[in-house]
Amino acid sequence: MATQTAPVSTAPPRAQWTGQIGFILSAIGSAVGLGNIWRFPGVAYENGGGAFLIPYIIALLTAGIPILFLDYVIGHRFRGSAPLALRRIAGRFGEGIGWFQVMICVFIAIYYTAVLAWAASFFVFSFDLRWGDDAAGFFVGDYLRVAEQPFTLEFVPSVLIPLVLMWVVALVVLGAGVVKGVQRLNVIAIPLLVAGFLILVIRALFLPGAGEGLNALFTPDFAALADPGVWIAAYGQIFFSLSVAFGIMMTYSSYRRRRSNLTTPGLVVAFGNSSFEILAGIGVFATLGFFAFQQGVTVSELDGLTGVGLAFMTFPALVAEMPGGPFFGVLFFGSLVLAGLTSLISVMEVILAAVMDKFGLTRAQAAYGLGGALAVVSIVLFGTTSGLTALDTIDNWANNIGIVASAVVMTVTVLWVRRSGGVLARHLSALSTFKVGRIWRFLVAVVAPLVLGYMLVQTVIGLIREPYSGYDSGYLLFVGWGSIVVMVLASVLLTMSRWRDDPDRFVPWPELSVASERGDAR
Ligand code: ALA
Repeated sequence: MATQTAPVSTAPPRAQWTGQIGFILSAIGSAVGLGNIWRFPGVAYENGGGAFLIPYIIALLTAGIPILFLDYVIGHRFRGSAPLALRRIAGRFGEGIGWFQVMICVFIAIYYTAVLAWAASFFVFSFDLRWGDDAAGFFVGDYLRVAEQPFTLEFVPSVLIPLVLMWVVALVVLGAGVVKGVQRLNVIAIPLLVAGFLILVIRALFLPGAGEGLNALFTPDFAALADPGVWIAAYGQIFFSLSVAFGIMMTYSSYRRRRSNLTTPGLVVAFGNSSFEILAGIGVFATLGFFAFQQGVTVSELDGLTGVGLAFMTFPALVAEMPGGPFFGVLFFGSLVLAGLTSLISVMEVILAAVMDKFGLTRAQAAYGLGGALAVVSIVLFGTTSGLTALDTIDNWANNIGIVASAVVMTVTVLWVRRSGGVLARHLSALSTFKVGRIWRFLVAVVAPLVLGYMLVQTVIGLIREPYSGYDSGYLLFVGWGSIVVMVLASVLLTMSRWRDDPDRFVPWPELSVASERGDAR
């Protein structure tokens, strides 16, 4: 029987999920988030409708799942948060990539909580349809009180209170630990989310005009496939939605037992996430079909079919016109809160695991100390009247530049510079029912970096040529590009700081093999 290496650190033993189900539900909880419910339907609609499913599925198979497996195997074999695991595979440069992924999570956590807070408010507002007959005016004016100037310190109590509440819930769950907090929340929240969302979609399908909505979403525009922008949108959607290349799946997989089936749960998570996404597309567009029908227009004539506009302006407006509208609103915003909260927890766990590994902080110190500090930044930025523009800008830069750049640099470093493809493929396959080999290595080492590298260059050129969303160029330089500069600088500083325990005194688990071990993988 192969021997397990003795622990080399004085740190407490690494937390572990209690079993495969806890891990799968937590990974699905991370993947299924705001990206599925408010982002996918609009992105699909704008990028060729039904035809978008072709690049979407290709992106899932050629980059999403291969990089998901890469995240899993690095976290599992090297038993660490992103900076620790990547350091163990690729030295100090690897650690730097890990901290860059942590910094992406810092920026995402800060704005993601704000959207959750809005969803929580609208969950409450749904009971009496508080937005009246001007949903857009209510959201921007009465609720957010959006200011003309980009930065203000004028707090908006209606946003501030739910924002503080969301942070408290997230930090309490995180402070309770991997099993008692994160896993427990996901085991309860994910079945609830699936049940609630299914009821919502079924209800939507029976609304008058639903068929027209589905036609608008699914009628394919094959000409769109010739547009590189459509392919870029598909890869971008898959990355954010699957939670890959920003440390989450690596961190979650580091909490798995040594003898774990890695690939099969990965496929369950990936296909579960995409099924939820397509379900969300069906639900949202069936409802939009109803809204268009009520107004005597076509779906394409409606405004606000993506992101913030879709969730907080178009949806409330149509809920107000629907029989049983409050119930529908409660289900929709309740789903957003559950989906978003479980994703936020995973984003925060990347940060906490990293500082616990490096600086030897206890979970309570990390969750309440560091988490509390991030909460204050988030509250100052988004509890004020300047929140909306900052949120939109940081979201775009963190996702379209940060995550994609991290994926390119990580794959090139691990597979080309360190040439770890063989050992990682063997580790992935050892106890997994779905084996990977040359095809996985080709996808993760060649296809993914090439496609993503091209995407990154195109995105950067686009952002330089045309100011994003028509915002002021100086503002974009400061907030958008400034976020990336802060992420890089912070990664360098964090990499240079001292480890509490020597991260390099580590021997990876001996290669797992079915022959060398007894018992089933869990
Ligand atoms: N994967 C998460 C989402 O889709 C971050 O929102």
